[in-house]
Amino acid sequence: MTDTKHPSGAPWRNFYGRFKGKTLRPNQKDYLESDLDALSPGAVSWEENPDRTPLDLKAHFGDKPVWLEIGFGGGEHLVHQAQTYPDVGIIGCEPFINGVAMLLGKVRDAGVTNLRVHPGDARDIFDVLPEGSVDKAFLLYPDPWPKKRHHRRRFVTQNHLQPLYAVLAPGAEFRVATDIPDYVRQTLIEVPKAGFEWLADGPGDWRHPWGDWYSTRYEMKALREGRMPHYMTFRKPT
Ligand SMILES: C[S@@+](CC[C@H](N)C(=O)[O-])C[C@H]1O[C@@H](n2cnc3c(N)ncnc32)[C@H](O)[C@@H]1O
Repeated sequence: MTDTKHPSGAPWRNFYGRFKGKTLRPNQKDYLESDLDALSPGAVSWEENPDRTPLDLKAHFGDKPVWLEIGFGGGEHLVHQAQTYPDVGIIGCEPFINGVAMLLGKVRDAGVTNLRVHPGDARDIFDVLPEGSVDKAFLLYPDPWPKKRHHRRRFVTQNHLQPLYAVLAPGAEFRVATDIPDYVRQTLIEVPKAGFEWLADGPGDWRHPWGDWYSTRYEMKALREGRMPHYMTFRKPT
């Protein structure tokens, strides 16, 4: 399906996750209506940017290094990183609008200004991020897709990893956290295949979180249910 095109010119990308869940609370609707546009990293969608003109990251972040969180869920880790590193510009992407609304509430509370949001599929922002422009990427508890016939839907497949690799700068770190042993297996095969090196003893070995970690909602659920987190660190070679 990847070579068929949408009427907008976009490549057809199947998305198997959820765009919307429970009815939004009135304050969440307000966050989306009032705050989301101001946090846009620029024109990402194919409708707004059919020529796929690269984003002007300097206009948003000046000379700050740029980081990217893929599938931020409720945004707790994203806001924590933005607060911890005010000298970094951080972009989060998440197609699940309820998660985006939760993030916006946290952004208001924290008052962070070094954060931008793409409320959509990470693959669309990979098209428009300049090559080599991202210094760190986070993939935290990606959708597990436990059935074998669904493993090709996982983020750790070449059609996601290769465009991610292209937008990362040489030397950039790529952090992956998961509680699913078979996801670890696939990650350790596919991520190096895309060109990354695994820092097996990297900042924190795989059993321990990174020093600046902030436990996500999904991780807390996994821990409550007795599953073990794995923290893997990769690097794009220089
Ligand atoms: C299991 S949840 C984990 C959320 C969060 N990172 C956490 O740890 O709580 C996975 C998230 O990835 C998002 N996701 C799935 N496919 C995506 C894609 N192609 N681009 C960006 N986010 C995606 C889903 O909407 C979902 O919120």
